[in-house]
Amino acid sequence: MEYERPLFFQVMRYAARADRDVIDMVSGNPDWEPPEALREGLAEYAGGEPRDFQYPPSEGLTKLRAEIADRRGVDIEQIVVTNGAGEANYLAMAAALERDVSEEVLLTDPVYPYYPGKTDLLDATPRYVATDADGRLDPDAVRAAASDETALILVNTPNNPTGCVYDERTMREVVEIAEAYDALVVSDEVYDHFDYSGTFASALAVESENRIVTNAFSKSMAITGFRVGYAIVPPELVDGVKTRHMLVNVAGSRPAQYAVLQALQKTGPGYYARNRERMTERVKTFTDALDRAGAEYTMPEGGFYVLARFTGFPGTLENVERLIDEIGVAGMPGEAFGNAREDWLRFALLTPRVEEAADRLAEYFE
Ligand SMILES: Cc1ncc(COP(=O)(O)O)c(C=O)c1O
Repeated sequence: MEYERPLFFQVMRYAARADRDVIDMVSGNPDWEPPEALREGLAEYAGGEPRDFQYPPSEGLTKLRAEIADRRGVDIEQIVVTNGAGEANYLAMAAALERDVSEEVLLTDPVYPYYPGKTDLLDATPRYVATDADGRLDPDAVRAAASDETALILVNTPNNPTGCVYDERTMREVVEIAEAYDALVVSDEVYDHFDYSGTFASALAVESENRIVTNAFSKSMAITGFRVGYAIVPPELVDGVKTRHMLVNVAGSRPAQYAVLQALQKTGPGYYARNRERMTERVKTFTDALDRAGAEYTMPEGGFYVLARFTGFPGTLENVERLIDEIGVAGMPGEAFGNAREDWLRFALLTPRVEEAADRLAEYFE
Protein backbone atom coordinates (compact mmCIF):
# COMPACT_ATOMS: atom_id res chain seq x y z
CA MET A 1 0.00 0.00 0.00
CA GLU A 2 1.34 3.40 -0.93
CA TYR A 3 1.53 6.15 1.63
CA GLU A 4 -1.34 8.43 0.77
CA ARG A 5 -0.33 11.92 1.79
CA PRO A 6 -3.53 13.87 2.52
CA LEU A 7 -4.05 16.95 0.36
CA PHE A 8 -4.11 18.87 3.61
CA PHE A 9 -0.37 18.23 4.13
CA GLN A 10 0.37 19.26 0.60
CA VAL A 11 -1.33 22.63 1.08
CA MET A 12 0.34 23.15 4.46
CA ARG A 13 3.74 22.44 2.94
CA TYR A 14 3.11 24.83 0.08
CA ALA A 15 2.04 27.54 2.54
CA ALA A 16 5.10 26.94 4.75
CA ARG A 17 7.41 27.37 1.77
CA ALA A 18 5.74 30.54 0.50
CA ASP A 19 7.92 33.58 0.38
CA ARG A 20 5.47 35.68 2.37
CA ASP A 21 3.28 35.87 5.45
CA VAL A 22 0.45 33.32 5.14
CA ILE A 23 -2.67 33.06 7.32
CA ASP A 24 -3.39 29.37 7.95
CA MET A 25 -7.05 28.55 7.38
CA VAL A 26 -6.28 24.95 6.51
CA SER A 27 -5.75 23.01 9.71
CA GLY A 28 -8.36 21.90 12.25
CA ASN A 29 -6.17 22.89 15.22
CA PRO A 30 -7.88 25.24 17.68
CA ASP A 31 -5.72 28.30 18.44
CA TRP A 32 -7.05 28.89 21.97
CA GLU A 33 -6.09 27.68 25.44
CA PRO A 34 -7.04 24.25 26.75
CA PRO A 35 -8.88 24.17 30.10
CA GLU A 36 -6.66 25.36 32.95
CA ALA A 37 -7.26 22.06 34.79
CA LEU A 38 -5.79 20.20 31.84
CA ARG A 39 -2.45 22.01 32.16
CA GLU A 40 -2.54 21.46 35.94
CA GLY A 41 -3.35 17.77 35.53
CA LEU A 42 -0.48 17.31 33.12
CA ALA A 43 1.98 19.12 35.42
CA GLU A 44 0.82 17.06 38.39
CA TYR A 45 1.29 13.90 36.36
CA ALA A 46 4.91 14.72 35.68
CA GLY A 47 5.64 14.43 39.41
CA GLY A 48 4.04 11.00 39.73
CA GLU A 49 5.49 7.62 40.69
CA PRO A 50 7.22 5.35 38.13
CA ARG A 51 4.21 3.01 38.28
CA ASP A 52 2.02 5.84 36.94
CA PHE A 53 4.16 5.86 33.82
CA GLN A 54 3.26 2.28 32.87
CA TYR A 55 0.48 0.76 30.76
CA PRO A 56 -3.02 1.94 31.56
CA PRO A 57 -5.93 -0.47 31.03
CA SER A 58 -6.16 -1.01 27.27
CA GLU A 59 -9.77 0.23 27.04
CA GLY A 60 -8.83 3.44 28.89
CA LEU A 61 -8.42 4.67 32.47
CA THR A 62 -11.38 3.33 34.43
CA LYS A 63 -12.09 6.73 36.04
CA LEU A 64 -12.10 8.42 32.65
CA ARG A 65 -14.45 5.81 31.19
CA ALA A 66 -16.71 6.19 34.24
CA GLU A 67 -16.76 9.97 33.87
CA ILE A 68 -17.61 9.74 30.17
CA ALA A 69 -20.27 7.07 30.79
CA ASP A 70 -21.84 9.21 33.49
CA ARG A 71 -21.93 12.30 31.28
CA ARG A 72 -23.31 10.42 28.30
CA GLY A 73 -25.82 8.34 30.29
CA VAL A 74 -24.48 4.96 29.14
CA ASP A 75 -22.95 1.94 30.82
CA ILE A 76 -19.20 2.16 31.44
CA GLU A 77 -18.76 -1.19 29.64
CA GLN A 78 -19.83 0.51 26.41
CA ILE A 79 -16.95 3.03 26.50
CA VAL A 80 -13.64 2.39 24.75
CA VAL A 81 -11.11 5.22 25.03
CA THR A 82 -9.25 5.66 21.74
CA ASN A 83 -6.48 7.66 20.13
CA GLY A 84 -8.81 10.47 19.12
CA ALA A 85 -12.02 10.35 17.11
CA GLY A 86 -9.87 9.14 14.22
CA GLU A 87 -9.24 5.77 15.82
CA ALA A 88 -12.78 5.60 17.21
CA ASN A 89 -14.13 6.01 13.66
CA TYR A 90 -11.82 3.32 12.35
CA LEU A 91 -12.80 0.86 15.10
CA ALA A 92 -16.49 1.61 14.63
CA MET A 93 -16.31 1.13 10.86
CA ALA A 94 -14.34 -2.11 11.27
CA ALA A 95 -16.91 -3.40 13.78
CA ALA A 96 -19.78 -2.63 11.41
CA LEU A 97 -18.06 -4.34 8.49
CA GLU A 98 -17.07 -7.33 10.60
CA ARG A 99 -20.61 -8.07 11.81
CA ASP A 100 -22.13 -7.88 8.35
CA VAL A 101 -21.56 -9.92 5.21
CA SER A 102 -22.24 -6.79 3.12
CA GLU A 103 -19.52 -4.27 2.54
CA GLU A 104 -21.09 -1.04 1.42
CA VAL A 105 -20.48 2.14 3.40
CA LEU A 106 -22.90 5.04 2.95
CA LEU A 107 -21.08 8.36 3.13
CA THR A 108 -22.30 11.88 2.45
CA ASP A 109 -20.96 14.12 -0.28
CA PRO A 110 -19.32 16.49 0.72
CA VAL A 111 -17.35 14.15 2.95
CA TYR A 112 -14.58 14.36 5.55
CA PRO A 113 -11.76 12.79 3.51
CA TYR A 114 -10.57 10.27 6.09
CA TYR A 115 -13.89 8.39 5.81
CA PRO A 116 -13.38 7.26 2.20
CA GLY A 117 -9.72 6.61 3.12
CA LYS A 118 -10.74 4.28 5.96
CA THR A 119 -13.43 2.66 3.79
CA ASP A 120 -10.73 1.82 1.30
CA LEU A 121 -8.38 0.61 4.04
CA LEU A 122 -11.10 -1.77 5.27
CA ASP A 123 -11.68 -3.12 1.74
CA ALA A 124 -15.23 -1.82 1.70
CA THR A 125 -17.10 0.08 -1.00
CA PRO A 126 -18.21 3.68 -0.53
CA ARG A 127 -21.59 4.84 -1.78
CA TYR A 128 -22.28 8.55 -1.64
CA VAL A 129 -25.48 10.33 -0.64
CA ALA A 130 -25.64 13.92 -1.85
CA THR A 131 -26.57 16.56 0.70
CA ASP A 132 -28.47 19.72 -0.25
CA ALA A 133 -26.94 23.15 -0.90
CA ASP A 134 -26.74 23.85 2.83
CA GLY A 135 -25.23 20.45 3.58
CA ARG A 136 -28.51 19.10 4.97
CA LEU A 137 -28.91 15.32 4.82
CA ASP A 138 -32.31 14.22 3.53
CA PRO A 139 -33.24 10.90 5.20
CA ASP A 140 -35.21 9.99 2.04
CA ALA A 141 -31.97 10.19 0.06
CA VAL A 142 -30.32 7.90 2.62
CA ARG A 143 -33.31 5.53 2.34
CA ALA A 144 -33.01 5.50 -1.44
CA ALA A 145 -29.30 4.65 -1.26
CA ALA A 146 -29.62 2.01 1.48
CA SER A 147 -30.03 -1.66 0.62
CA ASP A 148 -29.16 -5.12 1.88
CA GLU A 149 -25.63 -4.29 0.77
CA THR A 150 -25.34 -1.53 3.37
CA ALA A 151 -23.11 -2.41 6.31
CA LEU A 152 -22.90 1.07 7.78
CA ILE A 153 -24.07 4.64 7.43
CA LEU A 154 -21.52 7.21 8.54
CA VAL A 155 -22.73 10.64 9.61
CA ASN A 156 -20.88 13.59 11.05
CA THR A 157 -22.66 16.33 12.97
CA PRO A 158 -21.80 19.22 13.30
CA ASN A 159 -20.33 18.57 9.89
CA ASN A 160 -16.89 19.02 8.47
CA PRO A 161 -16.81 20.62 5.90
CA THR A 162 -20.42 21.89 5.48
CA GLY A 163 -21.04 23.22 9.02
CA CYS A 164 -24.48 21.60 8.93
CA VAL A 165 -26.00 20.34 12.20
CA TYR A 166 -28.40 17.40 11.81
CA ASP A 167 -31.56 17.63 13.88
CA GLU A 168 -33.10 14.87 15.97
CA ARG A 169 -35.57 13.83 13.26
CA THR A 170 -32.70 13.28 10.81
CA MET A 171 -30.72 11.27 13.34
CA ARG A 172 -33.77 9.19 14.25
CA GLU A 173 -34.60 8.42 10.64
CA VAL A 174 -31.02 7.53 9.77
CA VAL A 175 -30.88 5.11 12.72
CA GLU A 176 -34.23 3.61 11.67
CA ILE A 177 -32.95 3.07 8.12
CA ALA A 178 -29.87 1.33 9.52
CA GLU A 179 -32.12 -0.88 11.68
CA ALA A 180 -34.30 -1.78 8.68
CA TYR A 181 -31.23 -3.20 6.88
CA ASP A 182 -29.54 -4.44 10.04
CA ALA A 183 -26.69 -2.03 9.37
CA LEU A 184 -24.92 0.26 11.87
CA VAL A 185 -24.91 4.03 12.09
CA VAL A 186 -21.55 5.50 13.02
CA SER A 187 -22.10 9.04 14.26
CA ASP A 188 -18.94 11.16 14.51
CA GLU A 189 -19.77 13.98 16.93
CA VAL A 190 -16.30 15.42 17.48
CA TYR A 191 -17.64 19.00 17.04
CA ASP A 192 -20.59 18.55 19.42
CA HIS A 193 -19.48 21.44 21.66
CA PHE A 194 -19.58 23.75 18.66
CA ASP A 195 -23.29 23.81 17.87
CA TYR A 196 -24.34 27.42 17.14
CA SER A 197 -27.88 26.47 16.10
CA GLY A 198 -29.13 24.85 19.29
CA THR A 199 -30.48 21.95 17.20
CA PHE A 200 -27.68 19.42 17.62
CA ALA A 201 -28.92 15.93 18.47
CA SER A 202 -26.56 13.12 19.34
CA ALA A 203 -27.32 9.70 17.91
CA LEU A 204 -27.42 8.68 21.57
CA ALA A 205 -30.83 10.37 21.74
CA VAL A 206 -32.12 7.48 19.64
CA GLU A 207 -32.28 4.26 21.64
CA SER A 208 -30.85 1.54 19.39
CA GLU A 209 -28.43 -1.36 19.27
CA ASN A 210 -27.49 -0.26 15.75
CA ARG A 211 -25.38 2.77 16.44
CA ILE A 212 -21.89 3.66 17.54
CA VAL A 213 -21.17 7.21 18.65
CA THR A 214 -17.62 8.50 18.31
CA ASN A 215 -16.17 11.60 19.90
CA ALA A 216 -12.94 13.10 21.24
CA PHE A 217 -11.57 15.89 23.40
CA SER A 218 -9.38 17.07 20.51
CA LYS A 219 -11.61 19.98 19.53
CA SER A 220 -13.67 20.57 22.69
CA MET A 221 -10.52 20.99 24.84
CA ALA A 222 -8.27 22.37 22.08
CA ILE A 223 -5.89 19.40 22.34
CA THR A 224 -5.66 17.74 18.93
CA GLY A 225 -2.14 16.61 19.88
CA PHE A 226 -3.23 14.66 22.97
CA ARG A 227 -5.07 11.93 21.06
CA VAL A 228 -7.86 11.14 23.49
CA GLY A 229 -11.24 10.14 22.10
CA TYR A 230 -13.82 7.44 22.65
CA ALA A 231 -16.42 5.20 21.09
CA ILE A 232 -19.77 4.30 22.66
CA VAL A 233 -20.43 0.80 21.43
CA PRO A 234 -23.46 -1.54 21.70
CA PRO A 235 -22.76 -4.33 24.25
CA GLU A 236 -22.57 -7.16 21.71
CA LEU A 237 -19.89 -5.36 19.66
CA VAL A 238 -17.75 -3.90 22.41
CA ASP A 239 -15.45 -6.90 22.87
CA GLY A 240 -14.50 -6.85 19.18
CA VAL A 241 -13.78 -3.11 19.36
CA LYS A 242 -11.64 -3.48 22.50
CA THR A 243 -9.70 -6.36 20.92
CA ARG A 244 -8.90 -4.43 17.74
CA HIS A 245 -7.90 -1.38 19.79
CA MET A 246 -5.62 -3.52 21.99
CA LEU A 247 -3.97 -5.39 19.13
CA VAL A 248 -3.25 -2.17 17.22
CA ASN A 249 -2.26 0.12 20.10
CA VAL A 250 -1.76 -1.99 23.24
CA ALA A 251 -3.25 1.05 25.03
CA GLY A 252 -3.64 4.82 24.74
CA SER A 253 -1.52 7.50 26.42
CA ARG A 254 -1.87 7.45 30.20
CA PRO A 255 -0.78 11.05 30.96
CA ALA A 256 -3.07 12.43 28.27
CA GLN A 257 -6.03 10.47 29.63
CA TYR A 258 -5.25 11.56 33.18
CA ALA A 259 -5.10 15.23 32.21
CA VAL A 260 -8.35 14.97 30.24
CA LEU A 261 -10.04 13.38 33.26
CA GLN A 262 -8.91 16.27 35.49
CA ALA A 263 -10.16 18.76 32.91
CA LEU A 264 -13.51 17.01 32.53
CA GLN A 265 -14.07 17.02 36.28
CA LYS A 266 -12.95 20.59 36.94
CA THR A 267 -14.03 22.60 33.88
CA GLY A 268 -17.39 24.34 34.00
CA PRO A 269 -19.65 25.11 31.06
CA GLY A 270 -18.17 28.64 30.80
CA TYR A 271 -15.03 27.35 29.08
CA TYR A 272 -16.99 25.70 26.30
CA ALA A 273 -19.39 28.64 25.99
CA ARG A 274 -16.50 31.11 25.57
CA ASN A 275 -15.01 29.01 22.76
CA ARG A 276 -18.39 28.78 21.06
CA GLU A 277 -18.85 32.54 21.34
CA ARG A 278 -15.41 33.18 19.88
CA MET A 279 -16.29 30.99 16.94
CA THR A 280 -19.67 32.64 16.32
CA GLU A 281 -17.92 36.03 16.26
CA ARG A 282 -15.38 34.70 13.76
CA VAL A 283 -18.14 33.24 11.60
CA LYS A 284 -19.80 36.66 11.48
CA THR A 285 -16.57 38.52 10.68
CA PHE A 286 -15.68 36.06 7.96
CA THR A 287 -19.08 35.75 6.30
CA ASP A 288 -19.53 39.57 6.35
CA ALA A 289 -16.31 39.80 4.33
CA LEU A 290 -17.52 37.06 1.99
CA ASP A 291 -20.64 39.16 1.41
CA ARG A 292 -18.42 42.11 0.51
CA ALA A 293 -16.49 39.84 -1.87
CA GLY A 294 -19.76 38.75 -3.51
CA ALA A 295 -19.03 35.11 -2.65
CA GLU A 296 -21.52 32.34 -2.17
CA TYR A 297 -21.04 30.47 1.11
CA THR A 298 -22.57 28.06 3.58
CA MET A 299 -23.45 29.66 6.91
CA PRO A 300 -22.14 27.16 9.48
CA GLU A 301 -24.61 26.00 12.12
CA GLY A 302 -21.72 24.33 13.89
CA GLY A 303 -18.07 23.26 13.67
CA PHE A 304 -15.04 25.20 12.51
CA TYR A 305 -15.37 25.60 8.76
CA VAL A 306 -16.90 27.78 6.06
CA LEU A 307 -17.30 26.62 2.47
CA ALA A 308 -17.16 29.49 -0.03
CA ARG A 309 -17.34 29.89 -3.80
CA PHE A 310 -15.98 32.88 -5.66
CA THR A 311 -17.27 33.64 -9.16
CA GLY A 312 -14.80 32.63 -11.86
CA PHE A 313 -12.39 31.21 -9.28
CA PRO A 314 -12.99 27.45 -8.82
CA GLY A 315 -11.58 25.88 -5.65
CA THR A 316 -8.82 23.92 -7.33
CA LEU A 317 -5.43 23.18 -5.76
CA GLU A 318 -3.95 25.60 -8.30
CA ASN A 319 -6.24 28.41 -7.14
CA VAL A 320 -5.54 27.58 -3.49
CA GLU A 321 -1.84 28.06 -4.26
CA ARG A 322 -2.64 31.30 -6.06
CA LEU A 323 -4.38 32.68 -2.96
CA ILE A 324 -1.38 31.69 -0.86
CA ASP A 325 1.03 33.43 -3.23
CA GLU A 326 -1.02 36.53 -3.99
CA ILE A 327 -2.78 37.40 -0.73
CA GLY A 328 -1.30 35.04 1.86
CA VAL A 329 -4.50 33.18 2.75
CA ALA A 330 -4.36 29.37 2.80
CA GLY A 331 -7.63 27.42 2.45
CA MET A 332 -8.45 23.89 1.32
CA PRO A 333 -9.52 22.94 -2.21
CA GLY A 334 -13.11 21.68 -2.40
CA GLU A 335 -12.00 18.59 -4.30
CA ALA A 336 -10.59 17.20 -1.03
CA PHE A 337 -14.17 16.73 0.21
CA GLY A 338 -15.78 14.62 -2.53
CA ASN A 339 -17.32 15.71 -5.83
CA ALA A 340 -20.16 17.99 -4.72
CA ARG A 341 -18.06 21.04 -3.83
CA GLU A 342 -15.17 20.86 -6.26
CA ASP A 343 -15.70 24.52 -7.15
CA TRP A 344 -15.59 25.62 -3.52
CA LEU A 345 -12.91 26.42 -0.99
CA ARG A 346 -12.98 25.47 2.68
CA PHE A 347 -11.69 27.91 5.27
CA ALA A 348 -11.00 26.90 8.90
CA LEU A 349 -11.72 29.79 11.28
CA LEU A 350 -9.02 28.74 13.74
CA THR A 351 -6.79 31.76 13.74
CA PRO A 352 -6.96 35.05 15.62
CA ARG A 353 -6.32 36.60 12.19
CA VAL A 354 -9.75 35.74 10.74
CA GLU A 355 -10.54 39.43 10.29
CA GLU A 356 -7.30 40.10 8.43
CA ALA A 357 -7.83 37.06 6.21
CA ALA A 358 -11.39 38.12 5.55
CA ASP A 359 -10.24 41.64 4.55
CA ARG A 360 -7.59 40.20 2.22
CA LEU A 361 -10.18 37.99 0.51
CA ALA A 362 -12.76 40.79 0.27
CA GLU A 363 -10.21 43.15 -1.26
CA TYR A 364 -8.99 40.50 -3.74
CA PHE A 365 -12.43 39.53 -5.00
CA GLU A 366 -14.32 42.83 -4.63
C1 LIG B 1 -15.11 15.07 11.26
C2 LIG B 1 -13.84 14.75 11.95
N1 LIG B 1 -13.71 13.56 12.55
C3 LIG B 1 -12.58 13.23 13.18
C4 LIG B 1 -11.50 14.09 13.21
C5 LIG B 1 -10.24 13.65 13.89
O1 LIG B 1 -10.41 13.82 15.26
P1 LIG B 1 -9.22 13.40 16.27
O2 LIG B 1 -8.17 14.44 16.16
O3 LIG B 1 -9.88 13.38 17.60
O4 LIG B 1 -8.76 12.06 15.83
C6 LIG B 1 -11.60 15.35 12.61
C7 LIG B 1 -10.44 16.28 12.62
O5 LIG B 1 -10.40 17.31 12.02
C8 LIG B 1 -12.79 15.68 11.95
O6 LIG B 1 -12.93 16.86 11.33
